[in-house]
Amino acid sequence: MTLLKAENIAHAFDYPLFKSVNLEIKAGESVAVLGVSGSGKSTLLHILSSFLKPQEGRAEAFGKDIYALKVAELAKLRREAIGLIFQQHYLFKGFSARENLQVSALLCGTTIDSELLRSLGIAHILNQDSSSLSGGQQQRLSIARVLTKKPKLLFADEPTGNLDRKTANEATDILFDYTRKNQGAFFIVTHDEALAKKADRRYRLENGALIEQ
Ligand SMILES: Nc1ncnc2c1ncn2[C@@H]1O[C@H](COP(=O)(O)OP(=O)(O)OP(=O)(O)O)[C@@H](O)[C@H]1O
Ligand SMILES: [Mg+2]
Repeated sequence: MTLLKAENIAHAFDYPLFKSVNLEIKAGESVAVLGVSGSGKSTLLHILSSFLKPQEGRAEAFGKDIYALKVAELAKLRREAIGLIFQQHYLFKGFSARENLQVSALLCGTTIDSELLRSLGIAHILNQDSSSLSGGQQQRLSIARVLTKKPKLLFADEPTGNLDRKTANEATDILFDYTRKNQGAFFIVTHDEALAKKADRRYRLENGALIEQ
């Protein structure tokens, strides 16, 4: 079953960025996108994750045209089905690690998975204010917060920039495992070839087109 689909996407800012981008991600699949800085990786992630309407073409989630959804449907899709992980963590400062997780659990009607917290190595810091955590702990907490939503569609834009090699490896393994077990779709943008190799498919974004590696 196809969960995410980009069909003939074209988009330009001051100059044409994409000409005709096509991509399909099926349930349980992960796709990594590589490309030089400025090639449009983040822009494509924004289009597929419902935050930027492309000038041409269609972006579909669960077979529905994302940009034809009604406001309430789009809000529901974002709240319940879409998980976004960025290099920046966007945690709620002044709130404990646990409270940061509780927000996701409350919004999405899910529970906090203590096994997940243990595997991310953050089970012992739940009472600490999120802003007092180390950069790597904050990043792992933000990953836990996103997965607490139990999203079907997972997007990550350079998610391991703040992590050392070993922690980056463990954190991304969790995302790839989650995708497989949950039969979701995972779209990851990275400069890290080793990390990209873990994905089921890899593409390079070059001259406005996706080239399968
Ligand atoms: N909102 C915008 N308005 C105008 N131009 C934009 C906008 N967003 C992105 N761009 C331009 O589109 C191009 C691609 O940007 P994008 O952020 O998608 O690249 P990227 O591949 O993610 O790069 P990086 O690896 O540095 O993160 C850049 O030239 C950028 O300046
Ligand atoms: Mg980018």
